[in-house]
Amino acid sequence: MKLLEERILKDGNVLGKDILKVDSFLTHQVDYSLMREIGRTFSQHFKEAGITKVVTIEASGIAPALYVAEQLDVPMIFAKKAKNITMNEGILTAEVYSFTKQVTSTVSIAGKFLSPEDHVLIIDDFLANGQAAKGLIEIIQQAGASVEAVGIVIEKSFQKGRELLENAGQTVVSLARVERFEDGKVIFKEADI
Ligand code: G4P
Repeated sequence: MKLLEERILKDGNVLGKDILKVDSFLTHQVDYSLMREIGRTFSQHFKEAGITKVVTIEASGIAPALYVAEQLDVPMIFAKKAKNITMNEGILTAEVYSFTKQVTSTVSIAGKFLSPEDHVLIIDDFLANGQAAKGLIEIIQQAGASVEAVGIVIEKSFQKGRELLENAGQTVVSLARVERFEDGKVIFKEADI
């Protein structure tokens, strides 16, 4: 997605050897007009796929996922990282290990929001090691629903996430694919859409 790549080049900052900071338009402050274009681009690609739900994980996946859901005219569900007291029945959970933070956390979705009839599109802001997406897939499969694809806003292709998901038989569709960082600059490889 050209518009997204241009925005990353303009406003993204490379931190250290493997982190891309995009807090001015995606992970903290959010540019709704870019999110709308992201929603349009994914929905154009998946419009014939029979998607019934969009699933993401809090926090930064929510903004792009909601715009995708709006365009596909289906509900968006975000997995929660902390259990809250109103989630008291039929909770589906998965353990997610973060290589970045070196902690394992439990993520959950109320089972009543997913059923075996559902065809789910997972949307997330970043794909790094793929652990968040793997956890979401486990939860969706516990509900008996099927995962149609994993849609990613920014894939860091030098990390293992895509390989992990594709080896598990999943389809990954990324709007921007970062091949490497060179002298603080982002070098892309060809995106999926
Ligand atoms: P994984 O899900 O692909 O395995 O990723 P990993 O454990 O490595 O990353 C943990 C968190 O860090 C995730 O967000 C992920 O989106 C984010 N992250 C990974 N690489 C980058 C990067 O280069 N830039 C930025 N900005 N974020 C990155 P999270 O902890 O779930 O945070 P949030 O969504 O609540 O903000």
